[in-house]
Formats: sequence, C-alpha cells, structure tokens
Amino acid sequence: MAQLTDSISGLTTTQAPFIEEAQAHGQLYIQQPYGLYNDENHEAWRRLFARMQDRWQKYANEHFLKGIECLCLDPNKVPKLSDVNEFLCPLTGFQAKAVSGYVPAFLFFDCLRNREFPTTITIRRSDRLDYLPEPDIFHDIAGHVPMHTDPAFADTLVRFGDCAHTAADLVKSISDEGERTHVLASIIRAMARFFWFTIEFGLMNSKDGMKVYGSGLLSSYGEIAHCIESPLVQRFPIQLEWVINQGFEIDKYQPLLFYVDSFDHLFSLVDELEKWMKAGKLDNVAPGEPLVSEADLASFLRA
Ligand SMILES: [Fe+2]
Repeated sequence: MAQLTDSISGLTTTQAPFIEEAQAHGQLYIQQPYGLYNDENHEAWRRLFARMQDRWQKYANEHFLKGIECLCLDPNKVPKLSDVNEFLCPLTGFQAKAVSGYVPAFLFFDCLRNREFPTTITIRRSDRLDYLPEPDIFHDIAGHVPMHTDPAFADTLVRFGDCAHTAADLVKSISDEGERTHVLASIIRAMARFFWFTIEFGLMNSKDGMKVYGSGLLSSYGEIAHCIESPLVQRFPIQLEWVINQGFEIDKYQPLLFYVDSFDHLFSLVDELEKWMKAGKLDNVAPGEPLVSEADLASFLRA
C-alpha cells in the first residue's frame, strides 16, 4: 500500500511518503530512492531546467556556466546524485549528500567542512514552478552544486565549516548558561546572514558587469532577472559589519543585495568573519531574522 502511494505521489515537495517515513524514523541522511520519481517529477525538472537556459547565459557568473556544463545534467530527468558526484568529486572533492529535510545549523556547516553538501531530493510540483518556500532538488542541484565545481568557491564553503567549529569551541568556555545561549544565537544569526547574502543571494562584480553567483537567484526564473535589471533592487559592495546585522525576509524578492569582486574576496571575508567571532564582535548582532531554532542551538552545543 505504501508503495502504491509512493508511485502516485512520487517525490514531490511536502507530498512524499518516503520522506515522511524517513523523518518519522529520525533519518536525516538518506539514500535517493531514484525509482520513486514519477513522470510528473521528471516533467517538473524538464520545465525548470529548460526555462533557465537563456537566463543563465545572460545573468549567471562564468564559474557557474562552466560548472553546470561539467556536471552533464540530463535536461529531461531529475538527476541521480551518484551521477552528479561522479563528475563533481574529481574537481573539488565535493559531493551531494541526500537528506530528508532541514539540517540543523552546525551539522549543515560541518557537512560543508567535509566537502559534503546536504541535498534535498524532492522536487516541486510541475504546475507550481515559481514559488516554493522549501528548497528542492532543482534549487540544490541546479542552483548550488554547479558552484561546487569551482575550487575557490569550494574552499570558501569549507571555511564556513571551520567557522562553525570555532563557534562551538568558543561558546563551550562560557559557563553561564543564559550568556552562552545569547552569544551562540547571535553568532549563528551572523553566520546565517552572511551565508544568505553570499552563498544564497550573492552578486559578483565581474569584467562582464554584475553577475549572479547566489544559488537562490540561480534557481529562480523570475528573481535572476529582477536582481540585475530592476531599479528597485539596491546593490552594494559587501561590508561584513552590514551583512551580519542585516535581517531578511525569505518569501519575497530580495530588495537589498551585496556584491563581491571574486571568490578570493569572498574567502577573505569568511576569514575575517572568524577573526571577528574570536574577538567577540559577533556576540551582539542586531536581533531579528533569521530566527535561530532550538535545534540549531542544540546542534552547536552537542558538537
Ligand atoms: Fe540554498
């Protein structure tokens, strides 16, 4: 019966019995049960992939364009993670790793440190391609993974993982529980904001003009054009003190974006972030979004 339900609903976002079962059993890291994708799932991938082609050529940065070619993705089928990894791993050591849902902050960053990228395996409905609050395999594989083929970008993600370990070690030395929670929540918020305004929504000022490297933009048909073309979007050179104190809303086009000059520039900013963390400069960042969950806090305290 469960198999019958699976074959009808496939691996559609929020409608996949396979994922519900994995979550119910506390299984975060899972296999990709490729046979469960139904025709509608493949059709969703086909449509999403086809409509991005021209927009990627126009707006994406050159590292992404090179990366997505290296991965040899099938335009008509949801990708198999094992196939993706065969092309990806020899380039930077990175691998896509299937997960059943939200990965608490420390575990997420720790995966990056190990050159593993927690990857959603479900896909949005084929009749709702545009708005999706949750990540799906199109966002993760077509938006994030091509960037992981670039050595400088990959090294930057690993440095994020180092920062998470530094944070976990730092807060261990705070004996007062209330103070420890306050500092840790502030550091996680700072890291999440930095990640959001770079890895998810970053722009790069290149020799060809302003280009997109953030995966939230690279996987959005509407926003990849809006973020470059719209006079309503404010684009500023990135400043660490601004980014770590800047809140954001996830369910609308971003009105404020930051650009870097290169991935070496981005890497140096993550170094700086760690220095600031050690100096206590992340202990009291501005309150607000994103909210830090109990699971995020616990993941650092258990590290
Ligand atoms: Fe993402």
